Amino acid sequence: MRIAVLNGPNLNLLGAREPDLYGRETLAEIEAHTRAHAASLGVECTWTQTNHEGELVEAIQGLPGTADGALINAAAYTHTSLAVRDAVLAVRVPFVEVHLSNIFAREAERRRSVLADLALGVVTGFGAESYRLGLEGLVRHLTARRGR
Ligand code: DQA
Repeated sequence: MRIAVLNGPNLNLLGAREPDLYGRETLAEIEAHTRAHAASLGVECTWTQTNHEGELVEAIQGLPGTADGALINAAAYTHTSLAVRDAVLAVRVPFVEVHLSNIFAREAERRRSVLADLALGVVTGFGAESYRLGLEGLVRHLTARRGR
């Protein structure tokens, strides 16, 4: 089983960026923990971060045939990007939306996600743990689907 983890803009600044909101772990540390967790579940994991909307769209377009499922933290594009939504609609690869912060406890413009209704589920507000929880949910879902 292959899982792609896609990260959007400014997540490369984790650790230094608004630590009260996003925690002190760097994206590289979250990547290392996620990869280790993926290995313990026996799944392959690829990792991408981009600050560019078009690159995120292209990464989503590249999912069919390369990943069985995805974890997506589209960061600010979660709230704004119809291009990212359209890419997800086009490829129809199962994904879990993840956020470090609880987007529903934040400003009004962050309480809306243009991706959430397309996701298997959303994990939001557990800091770096959101990635672990999202990965577990995604792998369980894909495993159960295979068994059917
Ligand atoms: C975020 C939440 C978004 O609103 C914000 O723009 C981010 C990070 C999160 O993981 O909590 O960049 O996706």
